[in-house]
Amino acid sequence: MMAYAGEVGVEGLSVERRYDPIGIDAVHPRFAWRLVGSGPGARQTGYQLQVVDTDSPDAGWSAPTWDTARVADGDSAYIAYTGPALVSRHRYAWRVRAWNGDGSETAWSTPSAFETGLLSTGDWSARWIAHIVPDLVSEPEELRGERPAPAFRRRFNLSSAPSRARLYITALGLYEASINGTRVGDERLTPGWTDYHRRIEYQTYDVTPLLQQGDNVLAVTLGDGWYAGHVGPWGRHRYGDAPALLCQLDSQLAAGGLETVATDDRWVASSTGTLLNDLQMGERTDLRRERSASDDAGWDPVSLRAAPGAQLVAARDDGIHVVEALPALEVRAIEAAPGDRRYIVDLGANAAGVVRLRTAGTPGQRVVIRHAEALDAGGELYIENLRGAEQQDEFVLADAAPVILEPRFTFHGFRYAEVSGLDAPLTADDIESHVLSSATRMVGQFSCSDPLVDMLQRNIVTSLRANFISIPTDCPQRNERLGWTADLQIFAPTALFNADVTNMVNKWLDDLVDTQLPSGAYADIAPAPSGWAGAGNTAWSDAGVIVPWVLYERSGDARVLDRMYDSMRRYIAFLEADQTQGLRFAGRYGDWVSLGARTDKLFIGTAYLVYVFNLFARIAATVGRTDDEERARELSDRARKALQRRFVDGEGRLTVDTQTAYAMALGFDLLPDSGRAAAGQHLAELVESADTHLATGFLGTPLVMPALSDNGHHELACRLLRQDTYPSWLFEVRQGATSIWERWNGWTPENGFYSPRMNSFNHYAFGAVGDWMYRYLAGLNPVEPGYRRTELRPRPGGGFTAARATHESLYGTHACGWRIVDETLHVVARVPPNTSATLVLPINTVDGVQMNGGPLAASSAMHAAAGDVRIEVPPGEHTFNAPYHSVASERMR
Ligand code: BGC
Repeated sequence: MMAYAGEVGVEGLSVERRYDPIGIDAVHPRFAWRLVGSGPGARQTGYQLQVVDTDSPDAGWSAPTWDTARVADGDSAYIAYTGPALVSRHRYAWRVRAWNGDGSETAWSTPSAFETGLLSTGDWSARWIAHIVPDLVSEPEELRGERPAPAFRRRFNLSSAPSRARLYITALGLYEASINGTRVGDERLTPGWTDYHRRIEYQTYDVTPLLQQGDNVLAVTLGDGWYAGHVGPWGRHRYGDAPALLCQLDSQLAAGGLETVATDDRWVASSTGTLLNDLQMGERTDLRRERSASDDAGWDPVSLRAAPGAQLVAARDDGIHVVEALPALEVRAIEAAPGDRRYIVDLGANAAGVVRLRTAGTPGQRVVIRHAEALDAGGELYIENLRGAEQQDEFVLADAAPVILEPRFTFHGFRYAEVSGLDAPLTADDIESHVLSSATRMVGQFSCSDPLVDMLQRNIVTSLRANFISIPTDCPQRNERLGWTADLQIFAPTALFNADVTNMVNKWLDDLVDTQLPSGAYADIAPAPSGWAGAGNTAWSDAGVIVPWVLYERSGDARVLDRMYDSMRRYIAFLEADQTQGLRFAGRYGDWVSLGARTDKLFIGTAYLVYVFNLFARIAATVGRTDDEERARELSDRARKALQRRFVDGEGRLTVDTQTAYAMALGFDLLPDSGRAAAGQHLAELVESADTHLATGFLGTPLVMPALSDNGHHELACRLLRQDTYPSWLFEVRQGATSIWERWNGWTPENGFYSPRMNSFNHYAFGAVGDWMYRYLAGLNPVEPGYRRTELRPRPGGGFTAARATHESLYGTHACGWRIVDETLHVVARVPPNTSATLVLPINTVDGVQMNGGPLAASSAMHAAAGDVRIEVPPGEHTFNAPYHSVASERMR
């Protein structure tokens, strides 16, 4: 719906942060909508929402299933459905209208819809089935032992075409389904990774157009995936040894009646030409052995399997998709001997995904594709750092026809591919990289006047996408790819600025709760396959409190706090017991992969204790548990005092003299207020004495920059970001990095590659500086949960002459951009309807400030302090100009 300036309308209707979702299982789904329009009136004062069960014969807009009537409330997000119980497989239409600031009402929105999945176990008539070929079960230790992917098939007849048909499907392993030869949906690596003994997600697909009256065939191929394939460095079979399938096709026939085709012993199975498939090892497919699902010969009966007993839940996010196709930048042929030709292909960015290759050859010809993040000095693939992950795909061609080769049950972390075994010459047009990610909806943009920092931003996004694959992982390439908890708690704010991964992270929090031990400790990785022992480690396990809070702050969804509350409370009880008089040892990891001075782990453990107790106090306050809040505050104070007694000397200095310790002291509020300025000064000195370089690891790095900017050293923070000598963010960029490295010294001109034992070039943790870039450099700060209120605060420094950030929240697009031209600061501020914003300008006086080309209305400005002019900005896009003398900041350098 279009709205004219000043006129307010309603659009962007979403349910559980998805548009027109089908197959949801939330019993009280939450609605959100966006107001359109601008000016002070673009503010909601009330709403009315109606829901119609379109599958109930007598419901309609005149007799809605649920009608809120007019609610005098400004909230336009997370409005929970509280009408009559939702019914499985029903489709609900909904619409909303709003009352705005001046009391007028909008028209009804265009209706939107959502549809329920299978809400109770009784709705499933399907049985789990598998294809058991006893002599083919290979030994777990045999890395590349063949084990053909099984295919399953069911022929069935429909007496009429369906008016609506849904496929509900999941697997222990991975599945790919087709109906009458057409692939169902375009998600990859479904159903994703959970602890399959506890929780299995199913997907729902609209397959109405794929079915026909008469004969139909539903076929599904299964891969090993996380269930039966390699996970981490621990080999195969972490959850089970053979994949299994559960699916149910419900068709509502145009002629009336529901026809269900569900997995049971009427299905048949067969081995496919995919002889090996593994997320880490790769895929081996003999196309000669592929068969069509409509070919009736040679199918085996299926084996019924007992249900795993895990909870079946509807997938909450949109799954993994091909999010980009990267063209080949360079194809280099290497001819070792006549006829023995290989190609090294540069696909431009170190992403996660698969190669898509078009070729033609001869029957029986074997094409091999290997993948690596980097090339060695000789221009060959550098694969040592992949450790046990082979990342190799092989295809045996069936005939001479042109063919497109792309594996379906694996993914690799790579920038370079080596292709061998081709007959025809390979050109750049024949090959591309299909980038895979669960981060399908990018919602943020950052850019600035320094092209190297813009490249850093691109690298952050590349590593974000590469490591949001079903779960948030540490890396996508070596035999690890695990849901390391600290990595996410550090990176989550940056991730959420750039991509709407809210639902996926929410799902991962369930994975984390699944790892919780009887002691209350969370594991250091989630999901945690059986046999994993690490738990309760500082900054890792603490993710169980930190991530829900970050998610709440950035998404505005308080339900995550309610849902996680009891679990978090058990974790807090664990922390309370796992300390000595307020001091806690950090356990295993400390300031992981820091260069330079080590930060005492007793300091880190205690610092996190203060921080996490304090966060929990805020969480308890938010959910209204004042008793818990008080207790957590006491615990936090006690730990703070213990830390001060132990680590602050008579002069107010920390006895742990590292950048990380000072950054934590400032970021986690560990010091008395009177000590902050001196600590900020000392941190600045530490950075300066390192010649403006970082000496921090995973834990210190994200804290250094805000600690500097918040304590009078923003100029230094800007220069630190722009530092391009080793070690620094831009050093990596200058070495040609296209992703964020795990370690500062991953590769240096002096020493080449760091030890391959732990050296990934695609770890997002150090990309956590992205949050600072959005908030402190461009100046886009969410200050109330879900961006209901923002502070827009341009902060030039370090020679930057421009920066700009945007983010699309549930309310619309927020933006803060600035540019300095000829001693004038130009600012563009964008404020979505139904949110408020304060613009804070780094100038001393409102004199000469212009808004939208005219003088600033006296009422809208409030001059607070020197260097800090505050202006309330109404919804809409506005420009501001102010006299600005950057000389002052230049002189500070
Ligand atoms: C992972 C890290 C992780 C760490 C903890 C590494 O192997 O790659 O990202 O946080 O282990 O020990």
